[in-house]
Amino acid sequence: MTEEINAELNGFAKLGISGQLLKATNTAGFTEPKPIQEQAIPAQLAGRDILGIAQTGSGKTAAFALPILSKIIALGTKRRPKTARALILAPTRELAVQIEETIKVLAKGAHISTALVLGGVSRFSQVKKIGPGVDFVIATPGRLMDLVREKDINLSETTWLVLDEADRMLDMGFINDVKRIAKATHPARQTALFSATMPAEIEQLTQSLLRDPVRVEVAPQGTTAAEIVQSVVLARTKQKRKVLSDMLSDDAMSSVIVFARTKHGADRVTKDLERDGFEAAVIHGNKSQNARQKALNGFRDGSVRILVATDIAARGIDVPGISHVVNFDLPDEAESYVHRIGRTGRNGRDGIAITLVDPSENSKLRQVERIIRMKLPVMADHLGQPDPAREPRPQGERSFESANDGAREDRGHRRDGRPRNDGFGKKRFGGQPQGGRPFSGKPDGERGAQGERSQGGDRPFSGKPSGERHFHGKPKGDRPFGDKPHGERKPDGAKPFRSKRRFNRKPAARAA
Ligand SMILES: Nc1ncnc2c1ncn2[C@@H]1O[C@H](COP(=O)(O)OP(=O)(O)OP(=O)(O)O)[C@@H](O)[C@H]1O
Ligand SMILES: [Mg+2]
Repeated sequence: MTEEINAELNGFAKLGISGQLLKATNTAGFTEPKPIQEQAIPAQLAGRDILGIAQTGSGKTAAFALPILSKIIALGTKRRPKTARALILAPTRELAVQIEETIKVLAKGAHISTALVLGGVSRFSQVKKIGPGVDFVIATPGRLMDLVREKDINLSETTWLVLDEADRMLDMGFINDVKRIAKATHPARQTALFSATMPAEIEQLTQSLLRDPVRVEVAPQGTTAAEIVQSVVLARTKQKRKVLSDMLSDDAMSSVIVFARTKHGADRVTKDLERDGFEAAVIHGNKSQNARQKALNGFRDGSVRILVATDIAARGIDVPGISHVVNFDLPDEAESYVHRIGRTGRNGRDGIAITLVDPSENSKLRQVERIIRMKLPVMADHLGQPDPAREPRPQGERSFESANDGAREDRGHRRDGRPRNDGFGKKRFGGQPQGGRPFSGKPDGERGAQGERSQGGDRPFSGKPSGERHFHGKPKGDRPFGDKPHGERKPDGAKPFRSKRRFNRKPAARAA
């Protein structure tokens, strides 16, 4: 009889979600569970700790939120003052806000209370909200630590702990706070860690947080979403401003996030875009929280077409209609590439990711290719072209990074009728890069097959024959960068790339 009932159940009901929670989940448009949800929800409902790895945009939020919601709903509404039953930690304030929104939608009608604890906004209202006790606190670590220290929150009854973007939360900038916070929670808590990336050296750190965890890996860590068409545009730093502006004149780039490595760089790109006639909003850590959220909200509601961002917006942010991600430069941390481009191609939708690469960024590009285990095709090469003409620089301006400040009249010239004979002829970026979708649409194990990968010879700056662009001397073929079962991924050659994988690494900024 039970089997018959089970056979009739489908969707989230089959995973053990029921009642009002199931109703609200379905109303939210979640009727068929995603693979990470299918695999992670039953294990968590059975009380197991979990390490969940799945590509960007594949539904990890509901994978951790639904089982906790299900258990908390069963507990009823009696809460102790200043306590939180579940704690979700996220690396940025915007992501915490978004997670709270998702929880509210999934739990609609189920009398679940939530509170945000983030830096950059009033502490008073946060403390007040926690006062009577809440079901969920969604927090960034810095501000939460302040509240713990001041005894404004008591985590001793927190029996569910989630680290979203877990590898980031265990990175240098957060690890100490996260450890202290975890220690303050209930000793018999259930813990869930989720991310699209999990470098081996960070995974080791998870052992101190997890108890006999189930490891769910929908795709090997670092795998990019199959829907994202990725390519590289070779351009010197001085050429990048113009390359970007020319790209953006294509209307097919309907909703674009442009990532820059530094806050200063993001401001400069934004200014240059404005000088070139584009409206753009910017989000980075030096902006007020109000300005940050306003920029993101404008991008979300479609009133902002171009959002320029630092890696503050690289992780977790879910804006369904982003058509393109442009990396104005490569990130300091190779994993960030996976997260940056993962802002597009979410939840089964198409997306295009274009990375502008100066020859000085070659080694970063190789590190990225190593962690995503595929070679990025070159869509355009401007290196043979001269730098764009520019106005004389006002005295006192620094001469390096001159491309962006100096080329402010370039588009003006073109608009005045100067022929586009400068090597920057308009190219449509809304479409597919040359060679179509070389890495997409295949099951995991098949991606990166030799016949689909572009060859090294199309990279004139590498100065190497194509064969040498394969690292560790592995024969050309599937996943040249050590495609081993999880936990075992090691370089095939003598030199370990793990230790080299991160470049110019700095401690991550605290989010709160
Ligand atoms: N079962 C489902 N049915 C329909 N849509 C879903 C389902 N699960 C998640 N989604 C939607 O998919 C999108 C991506 O989900 P989510 O933000 O949880 O991805 P993620 O795996 O956390 O990505 P990231 O690694 O970038 O944080 C969201 O818009 C979410 O509403
Ligand atoms: Mg997420």
